[in-house]
Amino acid sequence: MSAPISSRKRIAVIPGDGIGKEVIPQAVKVIQASGAPVHMTDFDWGADRYLRDQTTVPPDGFAMLAHDFDAILVGAFGDPRVKTNIHAKEILLGMRFKMDLYANVRPVRLLDAALCPLKGVEPKDVDFVVLRENTEGVYTDAGGVFKQGTPDEIAIQEDINTRKGVERIVRFGFELARKQGRKKVLMADKSNVMRYAGGLWQRVFRQVGEEYPGIERQHMFVDALCLHLVREPRQFDVIVTNNMFGDIITDLAAALQGGLGVAPSSNIHPGRTSLFEPVHGSAPPFAGKNIANPVGAILSAAMMLEFLELNAEAERINAAVLESIRQKKTTQDIGGTLGTREAGDWIAARI
Ligand SMILES: NC(=O)c1ccc[n+]([C@@H]2O[C@H](COP(=O)([O-])OP(=O)(O)OC[C@H]3O[C@@H](n4cnc5c(N)ncnc54)[C@H](O)[C@@H]3O)[C@@H](O)[C@H]2O)c1
Repeated sequence: MSAPISSRKRIAVIPGDGIGKEVIPQAVKVIQASGAPVHMTDFDWGADRYLRDQTTVPPDGFAMLAHDFDAILVGAFGDPRVKTNIHAKEILLGMRFKMDLYANVRPVRLLDAALCPLKGVEPKDVDFVVLRENTEGVYTDAGGVFKQGTPDEIAIQEDINTRKGVERIVRFGFELARKQGRKKVLMADKSNVMRYAGGLWQRVFRQVGEEYPGIERQHMFVDALCLHLVREPRQFDVIVTNNMFGDIITDLAAALQGGLGVAPSSNIHPGRTSLFEPVHGSAPPFAGKNIANPVGAILSAAMMLEFLELNAEAERINAAVLESIRQKKTTQDIGGTLGTREAGDWIAARI
């Protein structure tokens, strides 16, 4: 007998745009197959809704998510018909910023050697976590333009770094290392040229790190980190960095694990309603063709179940995904022949 609705975890499902509308139904199907005691509610926030009635987020939408749900499962936002991308900004950045989901957690795990573009690299060699600060930096939309459209135009994009914001993401990194039994936390910045923001990150990293004597501290400039991620990914454990650097290096890291189609992520504020989404975007050229890989969305769903302390169900999903990759029951981007729906069906059936 299934659990009564009142005792189930409540999940808001927002597929969004493009391939988000194809991969999220696969994740939902897989969650159902896992037997997780959850209650899922769909929301139509995205480009279609915006074009229909100009709504990006309904009034009190964020408060509703925070109060009525334990977690949010999201696809992606971005549609060529909405040139300003205003809906994506208001919905996705709105959830991250207004719900204060400060830790963007992106595990980078190679599931099968065949998926890595590097020679001689095994799954054990690519297993680290990138923590991206998710509420500050250059994505706060602070700045402005002056004398726009003239030869004297000036554009200023401000990089906001607060002591509180840096400290909590750095601490999250050390706590995660401790919890997962990882030995090293690396902080990446560009403090050689961005001295003020970098200086704050350096000081906070040292001070917080001293509270965790069993965990090694390491620093790299972010450009050097890109080089080392490709040359020797096995040296990394936990990487913590700011919003923009984290955005960029996780696309590179996704390539190490088989591409954007397989990369999951979460946006966490411990103890609060948190958000889970594949790293990829809405990939408009792929949309409606049943070719997008659903694995990133499905692994994000497994991360969500772990966050909800439904570990056995999450484990079943992870194991089924691993088996689908071993048996090449996947979409074409990672060497299989299945469509989006069929890949989702295979994983659900395997569970
Ligand atoms: N979190 C988000 O909602 C998010 C993230 C990134 C981009 N976007 C938006 O998505 C739109 C497209 O952006 P983009 O093309 O730069 O990035 P994208 O991630 O949508 O696609 C880039 C490329 O990655 C590959 N790819 C992505 N997802 C895949 C999947 N599931 N299966 C197989 N291959 C996959 C494809 O080759 C694709 O062309 C834009 O509007 C952008 O703003 C949204």
